[in-house]
Amino acid sequence: MLDLLLVYVTKSGNTRLVAEAIADGARSMGLEARAADLRDIETADILGADVVAIGSPTYEQRMLPLIEKLIDSLDSKKCRGKPGIAFGSYGWSGEAPIFIAKRMRELGFDVLDPVMRVQYKPNDKDIEACERLGKDIALKLKSLTRRT
Ligand SMILES: Cc1cc2nc3c(=O)[nH]c(=O)nc-3n(C[C@H](O)[C@H](O)[C@H](O)COP(=O)(O)O)c2cc1C
Repeated sequence: MLDLLLVYVTKSGNTRLVAEAIADGARSMGLEARAADLRDIETADILGADVVAIGSPTYEQRMLPLIEKLIDSLDSKKCRGKPGIAFGSYGWSGEAPIFIAKRMRELGFDVLDPVMRVQYKPNDKDIEACERLGKDIALKLKSLTRRT
C-alpha cells in the first residue's frame, strides 16, 4: 500500500491539526498516512515514504529552523520525482509553506497543488479543505500507479 508521511513542527498545535486533517482525508481513500512531529522520526522515514508532506507554521516571516535544517539535510538524489506537499498554519503573512514548496521543488520533489495554508487554528471549513487535499492526493497517486 502507498504511504504518505506528513512531517511537521508546531509551537501551539495548529500545524499539527492541519497535518492530521490531511492524513485523515488520505486514509479515508485507502492511503496509509501518518502525521508525525519531526522530533519523533528519522530522515530515513522521510526518504522511505512514497509521498512526503512537510509543514511549518510561519514565525518572523520564516519556517521554523528545525524544518529548515531537515530540508537542508535531504539528499536531492533521493527526492527526485517524489510527490510532495507543503503546508502550515500562519497568522498574517504565511511565508513558511510557500518557502517549503520552493525548497522542495529545488530538491526535485513533484510538489502538488495547492500549498495548504491555514490561518491560525483550523476551523471546520479549513479541516474540510485539508481532508479534501488528503483525498485528492490519494486519488492522484492511484491514477499515477495505474499508469506505471
Ligand atoms: C512571535 C510570533 C511571530 C509570528 N510571526 C508570524 C509571521 O511572521 N507571519 C505570520 O503569518 N504569522 C506569524 N505568527 C502567527 C503564527 O504563524 C500562528 O499563530 C500559527 O497559527 C502558529 O502555528 P502553530 O500552532 O503550528 O505553531 C507569529 C506568531 C508569533 C507568536
